[in-house]
Amino acid sequence: MTRPAVERTFVMVKPDGVQRGLIGEIIKRMEQRGLQVVALKMVKPSVEHVSAHYPTDDVWIKRLGDKGFNVFNELGIDLKKAMGTTDNLEAGKKVRQWLIDYMTVAPVVAMVIEGIHARDMVRKIVGPTLPNKAEIGTIRGDYSVDSPAAANVEKRSIKNLVHASETKEEAEKEIAHWFSAEEIHEWDRPDHKAMF
Ligand code: TYD
Repeated sequence: MTRPAVERTFVMVKPDGVQRGLIGEIIKRMEQRGLQVVALKMVKPSVEHVSAHYPTDDVWIKRLGDKGFNVFNELGIDLKKAMGTTDNLEAGKKVRQWLIDYMTVAPVVAMVIEGIHARDMVRKIVGPTLPNKAEIGTIRGDYSVDSPAAANVEKRSIKNLVHASETKEEAEKEIAHWFSAEEIHEWDRPDHKAMF
């Protein structure tokens, strides 16, 4: 990690990605961009482990509620009917719980990805949270079509295949939550000499 722009980020193939046989495809899309896997494992996480992975602060939970509300508002769907509440904190708490339920139904593949602007690059490759809004060419845009208008109404999490850290702080916290220092490996990709 000698270049200043080189970062590490945490990425996870969620249960739907594992169940659909997309582990290889998801990793391929990051490797082909020059990013490199420096830690990798399959885990069947406990409810407690997943719960501690996701933030617990009201700001994050309200934002989760709002993301779904925006879709309902765009579609003219009654918030109270769809979510049972018009309060973004209450809605966010429900979504957070559905998310934890979903993340523990099958194994996940956790990894640390390293590379130039890795956090932003991975988020671009993955695409935005809501598959119905994700552009074609992103992982979520190419392989999923779920929406709050389907998922939240069915009282389940959106199936969007991948998790990727958003901020530097989130990446540091998540890497430490899923991996010990010994599980992360420093190694060089010889093809980087031709790429940079
Ligand atoms: P978030 O952190 O906003 O997205 P991202 O995964 O892109 O960082 O949301 C966390 C997860 O919550 C998201 O990946 C899927 C799930 N979720 C729902 O199940 N329903 C919803 O309405 C929203 C907004 C998210």
